[in-house]
Amino acid sequence: MTHWSAQATIPVERAVSRLAGIDLSDVAFSAVFSDHMLMAEYRDGAWLEPVLRPYGPLALAPSASVIQYGLCVFEGLKAQRGSDGAVRLFRPRENAARLNRSARRLAMPDVPEPLFLDGLRALIRLDQEWAPPAGSGALYIRPCLFSTDESVRVKPAERFAFVIFTFPFSAYYAAPVDVLVASRHVRAFPGGTGDVKPAGNYAPTLLADREARASGFDAVLWLDGPERRYVEECGVMNFFAVIEEAGALRLLTPDLGGTILPGVTRDSAIALARDMGLDVDERRIAVDELVEHHRAGRLRECFGTGTAATLVHIQRIRHGELDLVLPPVEARTVGPAIRERLMAIASGREPDRFGWVETV
Ligand code: COI
Repeated sequence: MTHWSAQATIPVERAVSRLAGIDLSDVAFSAVFSDHMLMAEYRDGAWLEPVLRPYGPLALAPSASVIQYGLCVFEGLKAQRGSDGAVRLFRPRENAARLNRSARRLAMPDVPEPLFLDGLRALIRLDQEWAPPAGSGALYIRPCLFSTDESVRVKPAERFAFVIFTFPFSAYYAAPVDVLVASRHVRAFPGGTGDVKPAGNYAPTLLADREARASGFDAVLWLDGPERRYVEECGVMNFFAVIEEAGALRLLTPDLGGTILPGVTRDSAIALARDMGLDVDERRIAVDELVEHHRAGRLRECFGTGTAATLVHIQRIRHGELDLVLPPVEARTVGPAIRERLMAIASGREPDRFGWVETV
C-alpha cells in the first residue's frame, strides 16, 4: 500500500485500445468511453497511489454507502482539439476547487489539487487520440468522488474512491431547445445542495424531465423553492436572458444565492459578455418579469450554459398557459457571439487573454 505523493509518476496499466472504427466526429454523449481511467483510493485518512488503468467496471459491495445513500460528488470538464492538433483543457483548476466544495458539503475528504490536476493531465495525455477532430466536439471528462464504505449506518464515510474517466462527444443538444417552467417540482432549496454538485442533485430532477419531454419539451426551467417565482437553472444548465432596454442589450442571469450551481461556463460567459462591452446583471429574475419583457418585445434571447451543453439557445418557454416564443437564432447577437468566443478560446483559435486554457 503506497501513499499518494505529488512527486511520484502515476503507474499505468495499459488497455487494448478500442478506438479503431469509432467515428470521433459523430458520437453521441456517453455512447462510448475512452480506453483508460484514473483511480485513487482513500483510506485511514490518506490518499493512496493513483493508477491509470483500463476503463471498466469497479468492484463495489452492495452495502457501499454510495449505493445506499448517494455519497458521490462529481465534476464535468472538457478537453478540446484545436486545428493545430493540440489538446487543451479549459479551466481545470475551477473544477478541482468545486469538487472539494461539493465534497465538504457531503462530509467527504478533499482531493488534493495536485492529485486532481496531475491525474487528469496524465489521463488526457494517455488517451488524447480520443479527442474529436478540431471543430467536431470534445472529450468530456468526468471526475467523481464516492464512498466505498461497507456501512449501512447513516454517517460520514471513511473510505472513498476518486475516479476520472472520459468520452468523446459531438453535442449534448444538437439544436435550440424548448423549455417548460416547472410547476410541481423544485431542483434546489435554501440550505440544500443546489450550489454544489452531488450526484443526488440530479436523480430528483428526472421525473420532471420525463414529464417535460412527454409534453414535447427538451428541458425543465427550474423555479426557486420557497416562492416558485424566480428562475434558477435550465435543465442541467445555468440560465441567461438578453433584454433590450433603451436601445441597448443587457444580459441577465440568476445570482449565485446558494441554490444555483456556480458553472464554469456561466462564469466564462459573464466574463466574455463584459469583455464585449455588455452590461451583465446577476440578480433574481422573476418568471413574470420574463413574461413582461416578452409581452413588450424586449426579450431578445434566452440561453443555457454548461460544460456539456456549452451554450444552447432557448427558442420557446412554456409557463402555464403562456408560450413565450423567442426571436429566431439567426436574429440573435449575444448568445451566438459568446458561444463562438468560448469555443474559439477553448480550442486555441482565439488567443487566451483570460488564462483559462492549458495545453496538455
Ligand atoms: C455538465 O454540463 O458537465 C454537467 O455536469 C451536466 C450534466 C451532463 C450532468
